[in-house]
Amino acid sequence: MSLPVHGTDTNLADSTIVAALPRLILDCDPGHDDAFAILVAAAFGELIGVTTTHGNVGVELTTNNALTVIEMAGLEVPVHKGMSRPLLAPLRNATRVHGETGLAGARLPAVATEAASTDAVGFIIGTVRETEDVWLVATGPLTNVAAALRAAPDLSERLAGISFMGGSAGCGNVTAVAEFNLAADPEAAAMVIASGVPVIKMVGLNLTYQVLVGAETITRLRAVGGGLSEVTADLIAHYAGVYDELYGWRGAPMHDPCAVAGVLIPELIGYERRWVEVELRGEHTRGMTVVDERPRLDLTQSNLEVGYTVDAERMRDALVEAVARFS
Ligand code: BDR
Ligand code: CA
Repeated sequence: MSLPVHGTDTNLADSTIVAALPRLILDCDPGHDDAFAILVAAAFGELIGVTTTHGNVGVELTTNNALTVIEMAGLEVPVHKGMSRPLLAPLRNATRVHGETGLAGARLPAVATEAASTDAVGFIIGTVRETEDVWLVATGPLTNVAAALRAAPDLSERLAGISFMGGSAGCGNVTAVAEFNLAADPEAAAMVIASGVPVIKMVGLNLTYQVLVGAETITRLRAVGGGLSEVTADLIAHYAGVYDELYGWRGAPMHDPCAVAGVLIPELIGYERRWVEVELRGEHTRGMTVVDERPRLDLTQSNLEVGYTVDAERMRDALVEAVARFS
């Protein structure tokens, strides 16, 4: 797979054509699949910052894990620590899947660097105000993103768009209908969806359950060679083992890189325009993304682009290529 080229800037001085990759901030809660999201974001885009949130584990650990991945890949990307709690909901975690540290299954080196700040929300606001065409890609609970949009509503006109992993146009995973990132902070998700950002892309479980990684991807990653290849292969081995125990699946869903690919490798994902609401009150449905799938001609009656189809084979290729790029 070769790098996508999304635009060109002409350097008038020497007339060379310079590819301009999409610029993004990744807001995440690593997390096995978030770790791959960081690598894919850095390999296929201009990753200008990583912000961390509570989610799979507490924000101290997700920040540590983001720094670990960035250091292991030799990247120079600042990490800004974010919110430690949801806006209203009780704190939850996903240690059953990701382990007590959030990155169970691999021997990881001690972190040598520190977070650039403990103000992820301030970093998002400042960067989007100063920088043209920034995408905000979120792969954890949407607390930081909602807080930034609430504090600085002008961001909705400045952002190139938001792409998030969360929700589902199908079943949930935390409950029958609620997916983890939405269940972890439903109020934040509702605020983001209602923020007025003109382009908001959602990839939910209905899409990410199509991208399973298991034995074949592990073999391909080990074949890359080097420390990062071993660590990423070990991470998938653990992650796939959990899904085997939980569901009897022969692979684990690579949720979060799909939200990154939606911006950086858009030909991999097929979206449909839909009206989506977050259920905030239902006794059995809190945190559900209610996706209106009734056929309609008037596409102005939609607030999100919802992912339905994905080229899973090429998505797996992108994971391996990202690891190879930094090995
Ligand atoms: C989402 O929840 C987390 O466990 C994963 O990292 C992903 O963002 C899937 O429901
Ligand atoms: Ca995540």
